[in-house]
Amino acid sequence: MAEKTQQAYPSAPANHGYQRSDAESLESADELKRQKKIKMAIYISIFVVFQIIVITTMSLTVMKVKTPRFRLGNINVQSFESVPATPSFDTKFTTQIKIKNSANWGSYKFNAANVTFQYQGETLAVINIEKGKAGWLSTIKRNAEVSLNSSRITGSNLGSELSSGVLTLNSVGRLNGKVAIMFIMKKKKATNMNCTIAFDVAAKTLKSLQCK
Ligand SMILES: *[C@@H]1O[C@H](CO)[C@@H](O)[C@H](O)[C@H]1NC(C)=O
Ligand SMILES: *[C@@H]1O[C@H](CO)[C@@H](O)[C@H](O)[C@H]1NC(C)=O
Ligand SMILES: *[C@@H]1O[C@H](CO)[C@@H](O)[C@H](O)[C@H]1NC(C)=O
Repeated sequence: MAEKTQQAYPSAPANHGYQRSDAESLESADELKRQKKIKMAIYISIFVVFQIIVITTMSLTVMKVKTPRFRLGNINVQSFESVPATPSFDTKFTTQIKIKNSANWGSYKFNAANVTFQYQGETLAVINIEKGKAGWLSTIKRNAEVSLNSSRITGSNLGSELSSGVLTLNSVGRLNGKVAIMFIMKKKKATNMNCTIAFDVAAKTLKSLQCK
């Protein structure tokens, strides 16, 4: 039993053992350096891969410029008069011009523009839009008062449309501007309005408003 114990735990002797451990420590110093280098290389690789992932993710999300939405808000009809026989109509309503910049990581600065209200491509009224800026994740709402009538409409099926009970108009417009991302990058971005406004002729009210 005693012998066995001695073998298992040799009591620290001798030059021999000492020398060997010296050589070993030299060797292991080199080994340590090598391992450090490997570790360093691994860390750098991880860092590079991480950076690539971060940059790719950023360019797919934060840096990606999304189109702000350009639409009409609620329409409140103030007056609506029509005569199917003539045919003619005359209306006045209030609405809101909305520029929604809710998806970009930066503000949207747009140039002056306009919105036209049309009947089958014929412009009946123009609303001017002053230049402005929709901040980060925000929506600009501008009140607008619109008056329009059928005086400019020539040769169309207005009469039958009024008789059918629903008058359909469009509001179209285009904003040109720039999205400033994280204060550094600027990218041009245009956005279009194309809303369809339907009036209920008999009830003299708005029937529906749909914007693309
Ligand atoms: C409305 O804007 C368009 C495009 O910017 C322009 O061509 C047109 O002249 C403008 N119309 C009016 C009446 O200001
Ligand atoms: C009809 O609209 C035109 C502009 O398109 C305007 O000049 C005219 O005064 C309007 N007429 C009436 C009766 O409101
Ligand atoms: C608006 O949308 C209608 C379809 O709903 C389309 O016929 C029309 O050409 C569009 N107008 C513009 C200016 O994009």
